[in-house]
Amino acid sequence: MIPVPLSPQPVVSEAETWRPRFHYTPSQHWMNDPNGLCFFDGEYHLYYQYNPLGIDWGHISWGHAVSTDLATWQELPVAIADTDRSMAFSGSVVVDHDNAGGFALVGAAAPALVAFFTGFDPVTKIQSQHLAYSLDRGRSYTRYAGNPVIDIGSTEFRDPKVFWYAPKQRWVMLVVAALHQQVWFYTSTDLRQWDKVSTFGPAGSAAGNIWEVPELFELPVDGDAAHRRWVLVVSVNHGSLWGGSGVQYFVGDFDGECFAADPSEPANPAPGSNALPAIAHITLWADHGRDFYAPITFANLPDERVLWLGWVSNWDYARALPTPAWRGQQSGVRQLDLAATPRGTRLRQRMADEMLALVEPEACVALRAMPATRAAAGLATANVNERQCVARLSVLASSIATPIGFELFKGKAEAVKVGFDPQQNTFFVDRRTALPKFAGQSERHDAQRLLDAREITLEAWVDGSVLEVFCDDGTVVLTDLVYAEIDATGVGLFHGAENPQVERLDVHTVRSTLKAPTG
Ligand code: FRU
Repeated sequence: MIPVPLSPQPVVSEAETWRPRFHYTPSQHWMNDPNGLCFFDGEYHLYYQYNPLGIDWGHISWGHAVSTDLATWQELPVAIADTDRSMAFSGSVVVDHDNAGGFALVGAAAPALVAFFTGFDPVTKIQSQHLAYSLDRGRSYTRYAGNPVIDIGSTEFRDPKVFWYAPKQRWVMLVVAALHQQVWFYTSTDLRQWDKVSTFGPAGSAAGNIWEVPELFELPVDGDAAHRRWVLVVSVNHGSLWGGSGVQYFVGDFDGECFAADPSEPANPAPGSNALPAIAHITLWADHGRDFYAPITFANLPDERVLWLGWVSNWDYARALPTPAWRGQQSGVRQLDLAATPRGTRLRQRMADEMLALVEPEACVALRAMPATRAAAGLATANVNERQCVARLSVLASSIATPIGFELFKGKAEAVKVGFDPQQNTFFVDRRTALPKFAGQSERHDAQRLLDAREITLEAWVDGSVLEVFCDDGTVVLTDLVYAEIDATGVGLFHGAENPQVERLDVHTVRSTLKAPTG
């Protein structure tokens, strides 16, 4: 969180072309991690790390937005404000259906929403775990008089994730001991008194990183409800895949107290290598772009899905983003499961159905089964100009000898390339041309292909300055910020002289869900 020099401030109209139209941004001021995502009484809640007073990190409070469809968000007043001695750092919300915490009013039918967050004391720098409860449908929270509920006197101990573990009839809390690269596990029956039961870590990514925002959930493998595995997610800051912050995960088992990662998952081989190194606890990254951090799942969903979203930014340059009215954006809502791939069990992410519902049914261009030269010509003729769109491509893998993919944010001379490189067997986003080059951090990101399927597929969602790319059915995902010039709205296809076989290419506009905030 060290400020880096700002690029020259762009004119406001340019910044507004960078404002996502179907991804959440606050109307003004600073935002980082999503917090307390949950569903309650017909509404989805998105809380987030927010500075109500300014464009930079500070006065950290829980900002708030609600939605009834997971796509259109209404900004509401701050839900948990900072105080002189306690900023409200990241955390989670549970719906206390059985009133285990005793916070609901006597005789009230509606349960309390209970938020767990890290109270950060700006004077002592101590981080301890606090709770606050809401009796008004998540609009406002009362800090519990007995706070903190966990305090070990540490300055690096944060981001409580609480959930109900039905087999043992108790609540579980995960907290990171950030510098120790550990997740600490606690259990409780009343949400107030917590007992430490285990620790996990260090594991995975290189030493020197700090761990943040732990998350734990169970997912089916390839849609098989009888075959489920647990996934532990930790956001790591500094030294992640491309530098700065990123999200690693572990697949394993959880018994209500301890998480045990699978010991010998084969690693993703280095780009260009076919070897499968046998390293225990190799690092699996949830996203291979540079701008996806601190994702958490929605609690109390009315269906069996596991949905999450993350902050689209990177601590390396989050404070230098060239959007003067607001700073920070959340990803699309993604549905998760696990895929059994030839390289191991891996997280799979797809845009949730509610996001797909925003896609205009009529395509800007839809091409089927033709050589790449004809597909490129067809796309050029369609003259697609979109800053809010989804572009999909399927190509016969055996017909590709050189990189192929989309040119997005295409301007007069430049474009961001999103493609597949058959020599490296990687998917990539090359944003080196995206302007302005804040902090020199615009570059190419590669991610190893995990499947050996007959077709390679790309699905790229473009929204203002947010680019989310789901490759091979979401087994590889890359999220990157792109600050392209105001008129860089074209979509093209690039390919090599071997003229590969395009099975499908289409581009659709995605509807805006921007709403004005309410007081
Ligand atoms: C992650 C993080 C958390 C912390 C919050 C502070 O981005 O550093 O660990 O709670 O942001 O805003």
